[in-house]
Amino acid sequence: MSTFPLHKNSPDSSSTGGPKRPPIILGAMFRAVGAYPSGWRYPGAHHDPHTDPDVIKATALEAERAGLDYIFFGDWLATGADLEFRDPYLAARIEPLSAVAFLSGVTSRIGLIATVNATYSDVYTLARISASVDRLSGGRLGLNIVTGAEPRAAANHGRDAHWDNEQRYDSATELVDALRLLWDSWGEGALVANQERGVYIDPTKLHRADFPGVHHPVAGPLNVLRPVQGHVPLVHAGTSERSRQLVHTRADLALVALPSLAAAKEATDNLRRGVAGTGRNPGAVKIITPVLPIIGSTLEEAWEIHDTLVSLVPVSPGQHDGREGFPTGRSIAVLDEVIGTAAGHDLEADVSAADAAAFNARGVHLLDLVKHRSGRVPGSKRPVRWRDVLVNHLVPYSVVVGTPQLIADYLQSWYQDGGVDGFNVLTPYLGDQFERFTREVVPELKSRGLFRGNYDGVTLRDQLGLAVPENQFQQSGINDAPATDSLPVAR
Ligand SMILES: Cc1cc2nc3c(=O)[nH]c(=O)nc-3n(C[C@H](O)[C@H](O)[C@H](O)COP(=O)(O)O)c2cc1C
Repeated sequence: MSTFPLHKNSPDSSSTGGPKRPPIILGAMFRAVGAYPSGWRYPGAHHDPHTDPDVIKATALEAERAGLDYIFFGDWLATGADLEFRDPYLAARIEPLSAVAFLSGVTSRIGLIATVNATYSDVYTLARISASVDRLSGGRLGLNIVTGAEPRAAANHGRDAHWDNEQRYDSATELVDALRLLWDSWGEGALVANQERGVYIDPTKLHRADFPGVHHPVAGPLNVLRPVQGHVPLVHAGTSERSRQLVHTRADLALVALPSLAAAKEATDNLRRGVAGTGRNPGAVKIITPVLPIIGSTLEEAWEIHDTLVSLVPVSPGQHDGREGFPTGRSIAVLDEVIGTAAGHDLEADVSAADAAAFNARGVHLLDLVKHRSGRVPGSKRPVRWRDVLVNHLVPYSVVVGTPQLIADYLQSWYQDGGVDGFNVLTPYLGDQFERFTREVVPELKSRGLFRGNYDGVTLRDQLGLAVPENQFQQSGINDAPATDSLPVAR
């Protein structure tokens, strides 16, 4: 039985009766030791980053075998003992641009998206690396531009403090504009390489960026050819108003966390209106949302996997468990602040029906999450423990637990009724769960006509249905003075 609203329509017969929609976009959001905070502790799960290169390779090849559109690497610019408890996958990891450079030689079709932090990037270096990886991969690179939320990153980059929202987004906006100018350095025909005539470069087609930014002033030209994709597709992930402006004006994909299916349609409609408000085609930005499926052959098996993960999340009955980095208040006391009535209970004890009746609205919402994720209901044969309520409060992702068919129902409903274009699929732990997605959920989506599952085009842009941008220098003649002053003269 489906627990999600469902329409058995293919994209050809959209529920709105509107024009045909492109198939669902599916990306693998790679987190080596699992996206669930306790994933690395799951029996048999990959848990030692020393062997990450093998795991990165195997995951990318599995994703490619299933025809996923891309594999996606997030990033974080600091580490500390606290990450063990919060986001273990961030603690010690391969840097994303290095991962996609590695994969460009190991894979042949799948898109490769790396997160870069605009606040701490040097634009010329980033333009060089990204154009290079795009060329090395035959046009499969994407960049996720973020501005960062980790204050410790500042000291790692010689700064006194992490910039405020305005400064970070001023910098990110400049970075995108400067990157795109640098990528356009080599106009069509600029690299002549004619052996007979002895002409290597046509200087009239090689352009300087001469970008006068405050944060990212840069001269150019770039010493790497234009990316195969023209401009590498840009994802943006953020939550603030400035973040939305960056998406509206400049992004190709928006990675947005949406609180519920009920809220998703309004959010995706607003985002598309915002894009249209800047004069762009509202379909020019693909809206992607993260989802963390936990998959079992039966619903009961999926619940069991989820229960095991919940039981392995480090929580403490007191304010602190005494270990360095343990976040204060991962306890019943904190839950009490959230739901109003938890104080004094044992984490492993059951929430009685009378306890549940006294929960505030946030508590009721958490009980609803627990029910959907584990089939547990207070006072039933599958009772709710206080631990269940606390852990579901601590895990912020869109977790969906069920059989491959139920997971497909969920994705279908978010695509059809929530208006998202696709999903960044998180895996609770790397072991069997990713293969269950690629080998059981993906075929189900294909059989429903919702997912393409093969590589129609050559580049990531082709795959995502994004138009190739014209070279800005050719387009408007801006700044079209040839960059001859700094070029060596052939003798
Ligand atoms: C779905 C999603 C994924 C994100 N992934 C990353 C990431 O990998 N690395 C990072 O530094 N920030 C990441 N962020 C954080 C944002 O990019 C941004 O830096 C942070 O939220 C601060 O910007 P804001 O004020 O616009 O939210 C992510 C945000 C969202 C919503």
